[in-house]
Amino acid sequence: MEQPKFKRVILKLSGEALAGNAGYGIESDVMTSIAYQIKEVIELGVEVAVVVGGGNIWRGIAGSEQGIDRATADYMGMLATVMNSLALQDALENIKVPTRVQTSIEMKQIAEPYIRRKAIRHLEKGRVVIFASGTGNPYFSTDTTAALRAAEIEAEVILMAKNKVDGVYSADPFKDKTAEKYDTLTYMEVLNQNLGVMDSTASSLCMDNNIPLIIFSITENGNIKRVVLGEKIGTIVKRKGSAE
Ligand code: GTP
Repeated sequence: MEQPKFKRVILKLSGEALAGNAGYGIESDVMTSIAYQIKEVIELGVEVAVVVGGGNIWRGIAGSEQGIDRATADYMGMLATVMNSLALQDALENIKVPTRVQTSIEMKQIAEPYIRRKAIRHLEKGRVVIFASGTGNPYFSTDTTAALRAAEIEAEVILMAKNKVDGVYSADPFKDKTAEKYDTLTYMEVLNQNLGVMDSTASSLCMDNNIPLIIFSITENGNIKRVVLGEKIGTIVKRKGSAE
């Protein structure tokens, strides 16, 4: 049997990844493809927790630029992540993958509240745990949520699935033809060069807690499994001096 490189992972899905080419809302084909990709990884015996963004529905920063109070706009974004999480739960359960959604902001009629030890228990039982509503705090991104939850549940890596790019580039690959893809980077390089992989809060949290990050494209079927099996696709970001 194929040997996965990791036992417990956090998959970070950006909201945009769920929108597919439409760029807005949830594209059911994309959702189904992601669900199958997660299923393949569960079948390898890997424990998978997912943090979903909300940018396909609402972006806190964009809202605040339109004059909505920043904290309020961020709470609206957190609610968007709950919608995405429920849609992902539905797509996974349609293909017989057991799941639990946990929210950082209590909404018990809709999902369980986030309880760290319970989340770990669900993972041990082979359930996909979907962390919804970010950290529950405004001013924190869902990338920071992924970093925080990864530290809390002792995930070995954050798998950051993208739908537009297949790794981290030296410049915007859509605008600059000379942009080169990095195979590996350190968090310090990401922070110093302002590479825009994650916001600086998330990068710092990963760096301080020695949590590696792999950025890759989710548009090709089977890529999550490839990454989990240790295939070198995308870009790996780690702390300087840490083993891969
Ligand atoms: P174990 O019994 O420990 O294996 O876990 P379990 O999740 O199956 O047990 P539990 O009885 O806690 O949950 C049964 C179902 O109710 C699951 O689908 C949970 O997601 C759901 N559930 C548990 N707590 C809550 C809650 O506070 N709100 C909502 N909406 N659902 C919940």
